[in-house]
Amino acid sequence: MSSQPTATENAPSEPRGGPLDAVRRYAQDLNLGLLWRLLPYTRAYLGLEILMFAAMLGAVLLDQVSPLLTQGLIDEALPRKDLALLNLYALGLITLPLVRGLVNIWQDYLSARIGEGLVYDLRLALFRHFQRMSLGYYTTTPTGEIMSRLGDVNAARGLLTRVLPQIIINLITLASALVVMFGLDARLALLGLAMLPLYVLPTRFAARFAQGITKETMRLSNELLTFNNEALGVSGALLVKAFGRQDHETQRYAGLTSQVRDLAVRQAVVGRLFGLSTSLVGALGLALVYWVGGYLVIGDELTIGTVVAFTIYLWRVYAPFSNLLDVPVNLASSLASLERLFETLELPIEIANAPGARPLRHVQGHIRFDHVYFRYAGPPPDRLKGTEREWALEDINLEIQPGQLAAFVGPSGSGKTTVTYLVPRLFDPQRGSVFIDGHDVREVTLASLAHQIGMVTQETYMFNDTIRNNLLYARPNATPAELRAAVEAAYLTDVIAELPDGLDTMVGQRGFRLSGGQRQRLSIARVILKNPRILILDEATSALDTESELAVQAALERLFQDRTSLVVAHRLSTIRSADVIFALEDGRLVEQGTHAQLLAREGLYARLYRKQFKDQAWLLGLTPADLLAFPQPERQVLLALVRLREATLQAIAEAVEWQPDDVVPVLTRLEEDGHVRVLADGRYEPVLARGRRPAINNG
Ligand SMILES: Nc1ncnc2c1ncn2[C@@H]1O[C@H](COP(=O)(O)OP(=O)(O)OP(=O)(O)O)[C@@H](O)[C@H]1O
Ligand SMILES: [Mg+2]
Repeated sequence: MSSQPTATENAPSEPRGGPLDAVRRYAQDLNLGLLWRLLPYTRAYLGLEILMFAAMLGAVLLDQVSPLLTQGLIDEALPRKDLALLNLYALGLITLPLVRGLVNIWQDYLSARIGEGLVYDLRLALFRHFQRMSLGYYTTTPTGEIMSRLGDVNAARGLLTRVLPQIIINLITLASALVVMFGLDARLALLGLAMLPLYVLPTRFAARFAQGITKETMRLSNELLTFNNEALGVSGALLVKAFGRQDHETQRYAGLTSQVRDLAVRQAVVGRLFGLSTSLVGALGLALVYWVGGYLVIGDELTIGTVVAFTIYLWRVYAPFSNLLDVPVNLASSLASLERLFETLELPIEIANAPGARPLRHVQGHIRFDHVYFRYAGPPPDRLKGTEREWALEDINLEIQPGQLAAFVGPSGSGKTTVTYLVPRLFDPQRGSVFIDGHDVREVTLASLAHQIGMVTQETYMFNDTIRNNLLYARPNATPAELRAAVEAAYLTDVIAELPDGLDTMVGQRGFRLSGGQRQRLSIARVILKNPRILILDEATSALDTESELAVQAALERLFQDRTSLVVAHRLSTIRSADVIFALEDGRLVEQGTHAQLLAREGLYARLYRKQFKDQAWLLGLTPADLLAFPQPERQVLLALVRLREATLQAIAEAVEWQPDDVVPVLTRLEEDGHVRVLADGRYEPVLARGRRPAINNG
């Protein structure tokens, strides 16, 4: 597909072959075939294109008449001392540029309409394509590269609105000027043309050089974009600050930008050299024409007017010719971008609707993995060297009944998240199949699959918009009552009531204006609003006993109701409500069963439980919702006590940061209602009996 320069890349400029040969080689190097691929896109603009071409032709031809007027003025009006004729020629010389200018404006308008229209079409085509790319593409491609691929459209825009129209105009100008010149005097015309080859060598050299610089510049600006995205994004900025690496980042940035600077300087010098060589040759040609023309005038073979007109036409050959020689340089970068643009449009869509895919409707929520093997594309990340394994998931067989809550547990990197990715087809397994209600997920439409499945990912993502709009993203036509219900179910009503603009408060870049727990609950509310039959949740590990975490846990319990849930569990409260637990290790399913069954097996789960979940066991007595139902300040004191297990009055007072005297009445109330017990040594202990609702009335 690409006929890139290979052998000729670094070859010194060889003088053999004429200018035509050089031009032909430019064309080869430039992969002009790409322009043909633009043709299908231009079809919609055919009418405008014909008009534009007519306007160009008109403008150039009008322009070519004016030297003839100069000739007439010198050769006819002046010798005859004919004032009327002089006025007429002068008037013509004034009106012609005016008319031409108007035609030019019209032509600019037309070429802008066409060029910008094409840019719009290409941009849309690119974005559509990116929307269809699989998650795998986004995880393996740096954001900067994707952005710069979108930016390729801008280079294509220069090509369409500037470079291509200029090529056409220059060609028309060159051809028409040559015709007139040969008509005026063939000898002078040949003389002028004889100078042209002198243009070729220096420009060809400059063009090669510039091409190399252009490629290098593009590579660098990509790198810079990626760097900026990483270092100046919220998460990146957080990381830089957390590790105090500001100076290091600044140095890396300085390194990159200094390369950009040096390149730009080299580019400027090349431009100058190029300009110098062309203007030198131009001046030389002009002098020769005046010289030889002078002889011819003195020998009465030519009129003065013809020589003067001729010198004007000479510029109308040299200027477009030098512009045309410039074209490969301009084209080089535009075409490189265009090539990448088409390459992007051809990036394979890895996950697409199968031919004849049917929508998945009325889902019960039965899920089955049948001998599933999965491996991520690309080389395994470096940090895994040593523990590297062939499959991220190996021979996974499992079944989840409709409405069940299935918890996935296992060490980090064991493949829990990956399992959940295969259900909504964020990735497809290499071997084996995933079934929903007996349908292979690869045989249903992606849209219906996405409709039936709700996801809460490990890292919650919010658009920089209002809370309302972030919620409505799940279901744009939700009623205000449904919104309120979702907010209520996610324990966000109080949080939102305290925000300055309520639901219309902006969440900030990626939701960074909300606390971690609030953000998680917002993403839970979003899924509650969507109300999918199948829920996929990748729990974030989090603090054990803060109020916010309690609210998250309580919100989750609501979320699990009435649907099949696949949860990567980090919370004991989730594990406890699970109908079935799957324990993964190194990509293999090693155990499955209920909490009690797995504990009894004394295997992986029992080990994990002791390490990861045991310290959350204080919650075994009450559900998060029960705890949240306690009024303040009792809840705060009770939570502090739960965290301390057993504590003196002094210790409790320190934990809640009150005076001991203020804590006493609260503790007394809790004790009276049976939630706190005083031990023999005077210390306090929480009494948490499962299912016991708070008896405290704060009235
Ligand atoms: N996009 C990816 N490309 C390549 N390898 C990946 C990718 N995502 C995950 N992996 C690898 O696949 C394996 C399973 O990863 P997975 O994210 O499923 O683990 P996990 O059990 O969810 O871990 P954690 O508890 O840390 O979230 C790991 O070895 C991981 O390094
Ligand atoms: Mg994970």
